[in-house]
Amino acid sequence: MATIRLGDMAPDFTADSSEGQFNFYEYLGDGWGILFSHPADFTPVCTTELGTAAKFKAEFDKRNVKMVALSVDGKESHNEWIKDINETQHTTVNFPIIADEDRKVSDLYDMIHPNADDTLTVRSVYIIAPDKTVKLIITYPASTGRNFHELLRVIDSLQLTAYHKVATPANWEHGQDVVVSPSIPTDEAKEIFSKGVEEIKPYLRLTPDPTV
Ligand code: BEZ
Repeated sequence: MATIRLGDMAPDFTADSSEGQFNFYEYLGDGWGILFSHPADFTPVCTTELGTAAKFKAEFDKRNVKMVALSVDGKESHNEWIKDINETQHTTVNFPIIADEDRKVSDLYDMIHPNADDTLTVRSVYIIAPDKTVKLIITYPASTGRNFHELLRVIDSLQLTAYHKVATPANWEHGQDVVVSPSIPTDEAKEIFSKGVEEIKPYLRLTPDPTV
């Protein structure tokens, strides 16, 4: 059983999917990726999640993030379920769902937590950077549907902090002030951040979001 931690290389794999044979790294190309697992096909919470994910695709595209879902049922089942998702959620599923019947990918990504359920995957989320390192892992139980606004928010933070020497404070959203990285002395920060640096404490310095 693999343990994947932040900073690790995301394991590559080839699997069948609702859209045919699928290689993870080829699919991601040189962009970002989000891989999220679902306990099973034809379940209510998963149905709402996949419908929501489909409606959010344009937002993921804007951030150069490729979406891929996974469930431990087969491709034919996925394709029947997608008809229900499209009908009930008033959308069109527009990303692949991996058919992980042999649990190869679920095991590779440690998505089955036997003390929660020994056969179905939990609701895992992996966000992967263009260099294929894992940048974020979130795990929800089967009974709790994910918040896709939060997934976009953390992607905004991951992408901002990947390219600027900042961190994002509690409840931060795109456009709000950010925290200057603790490793940068305030004098240096004032040179880097032309929009200004507010020193509240020597270790707590704010600057406007450098991307707006
Ligand atoms: C659901 O997606 O609705 C679900 C799946 C497994 C357990 C509980 C809920």
